[in-house]
Amino acid sequence: MKKLEQLYEGKAKKVFATDDPGLVIVDYKDDATAFNGLKKGTIEGKGVINNRMTNFLMKMLEKNGVPTHFVEEISDRETLVKKVEIVPLEVIVRNVAAGSLSKRLGLEEGTPLRRTVLEYCYKNDDLGDPMVNEYHIAAMGWADDQTMKNIAAYALKVNELLLRYFKPLHVDLIDFKLEFGKTADGTLVLADEISPDTCRFWDSDTHEKLDKDRFRRDLGGVEEAYAEISHRLLGE
Ligand code: TMP
Repeated sequence: MKKLEQLYEGKAKKVFATDDPGLVIVDYKDDATAFNGLKKGTIEGKGVINNRMTNFLMKMLEKNGVPTHFVEEISDRETLVKKVEIVPLEVIVRNVAAGSLSKRLGLEEGTPLRRTVLEYCYKNDDLGDPMVNEYHIAAMGWADDQTMKNIAAYALKVNELLLRYFKPLHVDLIDFKLEFGKTADGTLVLADEISPDTCRFWDSDTHEKLDKDRFRRDLGGVEEAYAEISHRLLGE
């Protein structure tokens, strides 16, 4: 597979064309941003960890019936994936109150939720990814009703599988963000990444944060947290 021209550069990844029109290569960077790009920095080694963790988890999800864009890891930082048209939504799954939910509803971080919460944000940097509901999504034509049913079902299944996977590693999965896309033939697949950039992971005993909140909130020990979660999951 030949790596051809760069198609896109995002905040944490670059995307390259290949000689197969149905496949692209994602290349994970060490760049980190927060607050819609206002805060910028580098997390040494993050690209490698996020690439490996995402691929490991996507393979596990695929085996358990969740279709993903994953095709093949081609290097420490590069992965071959199916080319998709991204549904312009961030799909947030929450098990425990934290972050923007805690702020919005005045809940102490760590408050358990009686049931899993699904939220949607419209992917638009200029607007700061505003939260929307299914009426907005249908009204704007961002995804049809069947696609939204499938997205919700897949998101809840991903949550169940990840919770089950992380529990024995003494990691509480507080919340996470998913993105979905459609391949050329219209198949809905899980895309983007599943990593400490996009999930909140807390140590089950100490409640220590093992994710990007250490960077967002200047807590220190950022690289160490990425290394720790990677070690627990991948043993590396
Ligand atoms: P929030 O509490 O800030 O809304 O974040 C919820 C989850 O989504 C958390 O695990 C971090 C993740 N997330 C992203 O992956 N990208 C983003 O741009 C934001 C704001 C959150």
